[in-house]
Amino acid sequence: MERPVAVVTGASAGIGAEFARALAARGSDLVVVARNEQRLDELATTLRDEHGATVEVLPADLETSDGVAKVEARLAASAGPVELLVNNAGFGTNGSFHTLPVDGEVAEINLNVVALVRLTHAALGPMVGRGHGGVINVSSVGAYQPTPYSATYAATKAFVSSFTNAIHEELDGTGVKAMVLAPGFTHTEFHVRAKIENNDSMPGFVWQTPEEVVTSALKAYDKGRAVCIPGALNNVAAAFSGSMPAGVTRKIAGMVTKRAY
Ligand SMILES: NC(=O)c1ccc[n+]([C@@H]2O[C@H](COP(=O)([O-])OP(=O)(O)OC[C@H]3O[C@@H](n4cnc5c(N)ncnc54)[C@H](OP(=O)(O)O)[C@@H]3O)[C@@H](O)[C@H]2O)c1
Repeated sequence: MERPVAVVTGASAGIGAEFARALAARGSDLVVVARNEQRLDELATTLRDEHGATVEVLPADLETSDGVAKVEARLAASAGPVELLVNNAGFGTNGSFHTLPVDGEVAEINLNVVALVRLTHAALGPMVGRGHGGVINVSSVGAYQPTPYSATYAATKAFVSSFTNAIHEELDGTGVKAMVLAPGFTHTEFHVRAKIENNDSMPGFVWQTPEEVVTSALKAYDKGRAVCIPGALNNVAAAFSGSMPAGVTRKIAGMVTKRAY
C-alpha cells in the first residue's frame, strides 16, 4: 500500500521536526520545508533510517513569494499527492510595537499569515477534488486575547485560529479536514529566536514538550476536531480568555509577556 504524503513547514526544529518524526512513525512519507537545508537533510536521513520514509527536502523561505511558490507547486503536483499539510512555520517578535523594526513585523505577517493562507489554498483544491486529506494550521493560545508586547504575533495567531475554524466548517461533507492547533509555552527554539531572555521566570508546569503537543494534535486530528489546545492548563487559559472582557485579558496577557522578556 502507498504511504500517504505529509508536507510539514518549519520542519527543521521544534514542533515541526516533531510532527515530521511522528508522521513518519505513523507510516507517512514527508516533504520537509524550512530555510536551513542542512538541518532538513539531517532530519531526512533520520526519518529514512528509523522509519523507512521517503523524504523530500524542500528548502524555502516562506517570508518570500518565491519560497511560497515552490511549496505551492509541490502541493498542486498530481504525482505524490499530498494527504496532509501542516502549516507550522512561524516566529514571534517581542517588545513595544512602536519600538520594533516594522520590516520584522511585516515579515512575521508574511510568514504566519500570508504563507499559511496561500499554502492552505494550494492544498485544499486538490484535496477536495480527491475527497480526502487535511490541513493542520499552527496557531497559539496567544490567539485568544490581545497580547501587549507580542501585539503582531498574537494578532497573526488570532487570524490563523479564526480562518481555520471557518474553513473547518466550509469543508463539512467534503471528506477533507482542517484543524487549528493552539499550543501554549513549548520547549523549542521559538523563545530564543524571539529574543525572549527571561523565559525562566515562567514556572515549569506551564511548559510542554513538542512530543506532548504533537501527540495531542494528531489524536485530535484523527477525531476530526476543529481545534486542539494541548494541555489542561492551556485549555483553562483559553476558556478564561474567551469568557472575560478584552480589557481584563489584555492586562493579564501584558503582565505575563512583560515578565517573560
Ligand atoms: N514554542 C512555543 O512556545 C509556541 C507556542 C505557541 C505556538 N507556537 C507556534 O508553533 C510553531 C512552531 O514553532 P516552534 O515553537 O517549533 O519554533 P522553532 O523551534 O523556532 O521552529 C520554527 C520553525 O519555523 C521555521 N521557519 C522560521 N522562519 C521561516 C521562514 N521564513 N521560512 C520557512 N521556515 C521558517 C524554522 O526553520 P528555519 O529557521 O530553518 O527556516 C523552524 O523550523 C510556530 O508557528 C509558533 O508560532 C509555538
